[in-house]
Amino acid sequence: MNFSESKTAVKQLLSGVNPSEVPRLLSWIRDSDELDKLLPDNKTAILRTIADELRGRLPQDAMLPSESTAHAKMQQRSQPTIHVDSFLYDEDQVDSLCEEGTMSRSFCLTCGSYRTAPLDFISHSFSISELQFLFENVLPDLSGRMLVDVGSRLGAVLYAGHVFSSASQLIGLELSEEFVKLQNDIMQKYKLTDRIKVLHTDVCLQNVLLQNTDVLIMNNVFEFFMEPREQVRAWRFIVENFRKRGSLLVTVPSLQESLSTLQEALQPGWVEELPVDYDVYLGTDTDPDALRQIHLYRVM
Ligand SMILES: C[S@@+](CC[C@H](N)C(=O)[O-])C[C@H]1O[C@@H](n2cnc3c(N)ncnc32)[C@H](O)[C@@H]1O
Repeated sequence: MNFSESKTAVKQLLSGVNPSEVPRLLSWIRDSDELDKLLPDNKTAILRTIADELRGRLPQDAMLPSESTAHAKMQQRSQPTIHVDSFLYDEDQVDSLCEEGTMSRSFCLTCGSYRTAPLDFISHSFSISELQFLFENVLPDLSGRMLVDVGSRLGAVLYAGHVFSSASQLIGLELSEEFVKLQNDIMQKYKLTDRIKVLHTDVCLQNVLLQNTDVLIMNNVFEFFMEPREQVRAWRFIVENFRKRGSLLVTVPSLQESLSTLQEALQPGWVEELPVDYDVYLGTDTDPDALRQIHLYRVM
């Protein structure tokens, strides 16, 4: 159907709806994200355009020289590790960079020889397919709800929340001033300021905001950016303040894993884990193991 035929079909459909139900139906069409699945290409295209722009504005490893803790922690890992940001680079782009010789998937064990071993890749952002999965398969309809991304970095969760959800407010909290500026530039350029706001702050200063948050996203926030003692303090602050009954918490990795590495026990009765259906097909670029790291909880 072309546009004009579709309009006629919609009018015909509306003429058959019980008149008292028409306003409800129209507001569902306007606000609900159940229809979003009909426009996936347009939505991911917007995110890819933003990722292109960010790639041009950041070094290839998408890390700032000021991120000294993260640089040091990557060097301390047992296996040589590089940062490849999954929001900026999908598998095909990584392959092209490797073919060009500007990126490598392996390192040389004896310099100059053919003895090589694979490098560990880590990402400090969700990929576009993980974000689509998060908003379309993990979270419910977010109409009227406030979502907070702790450590919003490049803003990937916020831009994806804008295109894939009807959340009324998408708020990013970020320690790095340079990343806050970058996110603000993108929001202005792509006209996303109606629902997104980024605060240059430590989450541990945001008790009132956390008390009012409906959905809290925590993607590997602290592990690379804080020392264990500070991580424990930050988790305790979150448990104390993110308490609104029924609010949703998304973590990567699971809460159990995040806290057990810090030898911190999960406070009993704070949240309950909700089931997530990981068996969805989102294209060949999706890493099923990465999706399984996404966990959903509800505050009790
Ligand atoms: C792994 S990145 C998360 C990226 C983003 N949320 C995503 O999912 O694509 C973690 C970010 O959290 C920020 N961060 C770490 N500790 C923080 C804190 N206490 N308050 C606010 N931001 C923090 C870091 O600067 C870093 O940019």
